[in-house]
Formats: sequence, C-alpha cells, structure tokens
Amino acid sequence: MDKIYIRGGNPLHGRVDIGGSKNDSLAIMAAALLVPGKTVLQNVPRNLDVHTLIDIFRHLGVQSSFLQNGRLEIDATKVTNSTAPHDLVRQMRASFNILGALLARSGYASVAMPGGCDFGARPVNFHIKGLEQLGCKLNLEHGVYTGEVKRFEGANIYLEFPSAGTTQHLMIAACCANGRTVIENCAMEPEVINLAFFLNACGATIDGAGTPTITIDGAQELHPTEFAILPDRLQASTYALAAAITGGDVLIANAIPSHCGPVLAKLAETGVEITTTGEGIRVRRTGKILPTDIKTMPHPGFPTDIQQPFASLLSLADGVSMVTETVYESRFRYTTELEKLGADIRVEGRNAKITGVQKLSGAPVSCTDLRGGAAMVVAGLAAEGETEIDGLEHLDRGYEDLVVKLRGLGAHVSRGSERAVVGGLKVCSV
Ligand code: EPU
Repeated sequence: MDKIYIRGGNPLHGRVDIGGSKNDSLAIMAAALLVPGKTVLQNVPRNLDVHTLIDIFRHLGVQSSFLQNGRLEIDATKVTNSTAPHDLVRQMRASFNILGALLARSGYASVAMPGGCDFGARPVNFHIKGLEQLGCKLNLEHGVYTGEVKRFEGANIYLEFPSAGTTQHLMIAACCANGRTVIENCAMEPEVINLAFFLNACGATIDGAGTPTITIDGAQELHPTEFAILPDRLQASTYALAAAITGGDVLIANAIPSHCGPVLAKLAETGVEITTTGEGIRVRRTGKILPTDIKTMPHPGFPTDIQQPFASLLSLADGVSMVTETVYESRFRYTTELEKLGADIRVEGRNAKITGVQKLSGAPVSCTDLRGGAAMVVAGLAAEGETEIDGLEHLDRGYEDLVVKLRGLGAHVSRGSERAVVGGLKVCSV
C-alpha cells in the first residue's frame, strides 16, 4: 500500500492551481442522471469518489468518459437499470443522491444505505422523509432502500437541519415533479447554488438557492447542457493552511475568496496575511501563529471539513485554542494521530482544547478519514523530521495530484510503497 512521506519544515512558496470541487461534481453528476442525452461537465476532478460514481453509472447503463481538459461527458440517454450496485454505493455518502434521480427518471429505484467517512451516526432520515413528502413509497430491507413513484408531487418540506446532501437530493427529485415544491431551512453551500444553476441550465425552474427557502417548479423534461464545476473551496482552504503552517507565501489560484470566507477570516485571526487578487488568494505568514477558537456551522459558518486541518495549524499556535464541532456527532478521531506528531489536544464531547506546542515532530500516522488525512499532511509539512502517512484511500477520495502540487510549492514530499532514498538521506526527497 502506498504511503506519503514528508520531510517537514520547508516554507511553501509559489502558486498552486485549484481544481474542480469533489462535492460539487458528485451532486451535479447525480443530477445529470435526470437528463436524457449527453451532459458535459467541465473541471471535474479525477479523484476516487468521482471514479466510483462513474462505475455506479456504468451499472445503470449510463456511460461516462473523460474528454480533453478535465471535461466529463455523461451519456444518460437511457437508464437501463435502476438498481445501484450496493458495494459501490456503500463506499461514499454522495452516491445516495442518485435515489431521487433514478426514481424521477424510471419510477423505481433500489439504492443501499450509503457509506462515507466515519463521523459517528450519519443517518439518511431527512432524505427519506423528504422523498416521501414528494409522494414516493420507500422500503428499507437489509440496508437497501427500494422505492416506487409514478411522478413526484410538489410539496412543502421543512428540513430539521440545513443538510447539504438532503437539500441537493430533494432539489434533484423535485425539479421534474408535478407542481411546486418549497423547501425551507435549506443548506446554503456554494455547491447547492451551483446545482440550481446546473438544473436551471437544463430547463428546470429553481429559485432561492443560496437562501434558506428554495422554490422548485416542476418541469416536464430536462435537456442536456455543458456546465462548469466550481473550484474546490475545501482544497483551496487546505493549501491555505499548508502555506500558513509552514510560514510560506502561496498564491492559491482559481480559488473563489467568498467561498472560503470563514476560513480566511479565522486564518487572519491567527496572524496570517490574506490578500485576495484577481487570480485567487495569497496566503503569507511571517510572524508567530496566534491562537483562536473555531466553531463549525452549516454554511456560511466555519466548514466542518476544515476544522481538521485547521487544528493542525492551531497545534503550533502561541497559546490555547478551542475547536467546537457542531455539525457531526464525532469528528475528532484524527486528534489521536495528531498527538503522535506531538500536538497537545484534549477532546471532551464536541470540544477539542488545543494547547500550542513549540514544535511538531515527524512520526508514522494514519488518515482516519478524508479531511483527517488533510490534517496529517498539513501537520507533516511543519513537523521536524519525517512523517509517514498511511490510509491514503481516504485522501484519494478528495485530493487530486496532492503530492505533485505540494512539490510544486517546494515541499519535500513523495508517495510510494517505499520511502525514496535520495542523496544518502533515509528520508523522502523531491
Ligand atoms: N443528517 C441527518 N440526517 C440526514 C442527513 C444529514 O441527521 O438525513 C445530519 C448529518 O449526520 C450531519 C448533518 O446532518 O450531522 C449535516 O450533514 P449533511 O447532510 O449536511 O452532510 P452531507 O450532505 O452528507 C456534505 C459533504 C460533506 C460535508 C457536509 C457538511 C458531500 C459529498 N459531502 O455531506 O463533505 O462535511 O456536507 O458540510 O457533499 C468532505 O468533503 O470531507 C465531507 C465529508
């Protein structure tokens, strides 16, 4: 199994180009199942989750292929099978959004309970309740949902929590429903807004995406289009943290500053200099890292996906910081790994108290989940000596060309089944 080897301590410098968003791609790909014909998506990242969804599509009779320049063509002229392969669906949470699309398209679907990163219980009750409110009958047997619907019927739906996946799933299901659907207490993530732009470009009528109330007037049929996936705000934030923790100076090109707003605001509180330019976001640190508190919230609050790599930065702050996780039941498993690098973290329930240390030192660590892996990489870039990271199947779900991009910024990092020995050094090297 591959590992990533990092010899930390090198300030990152230069420019990194941010690719397309995993979460935006997965939602829009699921929506493309609704659209008879060939949808073309620009800027799709070639990460593990995207490939898993392409595999799922193949089982449904929907062929997808990468064209030039990161464009993905999805040919959903016909959907010949509405039973999604359970083992593949269980590999990631976002695959569950195909349930609504398959029901709308074929009137029948069978999709397993999804998997994904382990942050404690991750139920799908909001999805199911919403689909049932749209008039679908669903049965759960042996971990598999099976449903039937002639045509979804518009409904008024209130979400108990502004769940990103549920908002997206119900938008997809409702856009070909009979009549109007109003969803309240919606998620307001950029990926929700972009999904509405995509569906509207295909002929849907969706209003209010980006606010707590979304109104969808059902269309008879959608038509294919070519559409651009957003730059990945979570990758952009991760590179910002990598630049900050190493005391570097990096231009994060293509990043949309407003999508990273809460992360940039908190980075500024730690003493990092942030400049937004026409090209992206420049992140530079010359002074010490100041402590700060972060509390994760649904968008536009601080993103839960970035509390993990942000904790790596706070591990080296000059004082005590508090990280509070409110979105997930449990997203602190990575702290045990961070402690192996010398971090001082005490977790109590949904809070992690981080007392900054003078230095981190390299050690073998594991990715506990996708962003937990990002936390290891960010910490490893600043740690003295070698950090050896395993469990890369998590990181590969969301970070495309990570090692190449970090090397481009001057990091001493390599990937392989064995550590590279260069110039007699028993460490990885560029
Ligand atoms: N929830 C329920 N019932 C539901 C749905 C959600 O209780 O039916 C709870 C969840 O357990 C969680 C909270 O609601 O406690 C928020 O979950 P949400 O539905 O918003 O999350 P998601 O749609 O499953 C997406 C991203 C996650 C990101 C969250 C929150 C994708 C593919 N995933 O997940 O991304 O953490 O929104 O912003 O878009 C990641 O990229 O590393 C990642 C985990």
